[in-house]
Amino acid sequence: MTTFGTPLSPNATKVMLLGSGELGKEVLIALQRLGVETIAVDRYENAPGQQVAHHARTITMSDPAQLKALIEAEKPAMVVPEIEAIATPMLEELEAAGVVRVIPTARAARLTMDREGIRRLAAETLGLATSPYVFCDSLAELQAAVDSKIGYPCIVKPVMSSSGKGQSKISGPADVQKAWDYAMAGGRVSHGRVIVEGFIDFDYEITQLTVRAKGASGQIETHFCDPIGHIQVSGDYVESWQPHPMHPTALEKARQISKAVTDNLGGQGLFGVELFVKGEDVWFSEVSPRPHDTGMVTMTTQWQNEFELHARAILGLPVNTSLKSPGASAVIYGGVDALGIVFDGVAEALQVPNTDIRLFGKPESFTKRRMGVALAFDADVEVARSNAKLAASKVRPHTAK
Ligand SMILES: Nc1ncnc2c1ncn2[C@@H]1O[C@H](COP(=O)(O)OP(=O)(O)OP(=O)(O)O)[C@@H](O)[C@H]1O
Ligand SMILES: [Mg+2]
Repeated sequence: MTTFGTPLSPNATKVMLLGSGELGKEVLIALQRLGVETIAVDRYENAPGQQVAHHARTITMSDPAQLKALIEAEKPAMVVPEIEAIATPMLEELEAAGVVRVIPTARAARLTMDREGIRRLAAETLGLATSPYVFCDSLAELQAAVDSKIGYPCIVKPVMSSSGKGQSKISGPADVQKAWDYAMAGGRVSHGRVIVEGFIDFDYEITQLTVRAKGASGQIETHFCDPIGHIQVSGDYVESWQPHPMHPTALEKARQISKAVTDNLGGQGLFGVELFVKGEDVWFSEVSPRPHDTGMVTMTTQWQNEFELHARAILGLPVNTSLKSPGASAVIYGGVDALGIVFDGVAEALQVPNTDIRLFGKPESFTKRRMGVALAFDADVEVARSNAKLAASKVRPHTAK
């Protein structure tokens, strides 16, 4: 039986989000609707999720001492990582000592915090199809890996990075040095390790949202959302839609891969499994043990969006992953580098049929920072896609006068 307390009372059910961006903000809202007391943690003040949580805390989450001190002081029932750059070995320690429950598990947070742990698990332990890959610590190693194993074209990524940062494609020998230098400049930490991956010439890529939640018998059950198609530009998502039509064999393989990975990572919660598809072939790319940016489309397409599914799953509640309507999302970028920007055109955007928008409230805008998202639903997913893009294009961020 799951018991819920009253927020801000001694009986409160307390949940701490580690990372409070746009995805964390929606998880926090979903938790609050279920009467959970929320603590939003981020590395800077007034992060989107901190604006809606009961409590806001600002620390360096990659610092094990700061992380430990905060968890011990706040005593949440659970910590929910929303980002990768967290001192995950400390989370493993606290979980093992019974201090706190980590969502979905501390091991999952550690394995997915860099590209190496999860890639080796998927390809070498679970035997799943992935692109060919080599990890390299120097330009010479990278050149040797490309020459001996990977070939051209290929993709180089810092081991620790997200949203396409430091990632580039190598088309021929002239690009190798450039790709190495770019990866060194773009990684989250400068220890200089990269993965080089053979380029998969896929027909399309999807996110398979997969939920591990308790069933009526108390056993963990796996639920799948409809596949989400998306387009990435420079490794960053610009557009997504659901459902993406798939050959039944490819869909079956996508779900088998997603089940294998999420069974191994364990725990309760929602995962975003990224897959490449060509005909009936499916390759595993990576997985987020948490809501996925391309899954923001579910705010308009599902009865329970990915954030509500995550909240329910971690609290031990039943979930419903069914589709309400086909739909799409399109990213609204900052377009300028400035603090406290303003958004014109919101009313015009919402005049586009069956649309909605989210403005995340990030205090600082960058040209390529995601500041909002437009959502659209329609019986025809292609109509939804064009309406989402149209609505996003109507929103005009700029610096206040
Ligand atoms: N081996 C590959 N072959 C072809 N395309 C690839 C390959 N690896 C990555 N890509 C393309 O680049 C995108 C981003 O790659 P990946 O997901 O590994 O990076 P990321 O920085 O973790 O991105 P994010 O954090 O936004 O998910 C992929 O969604 C895909 O479009
Ligand atoms: Mg990705």
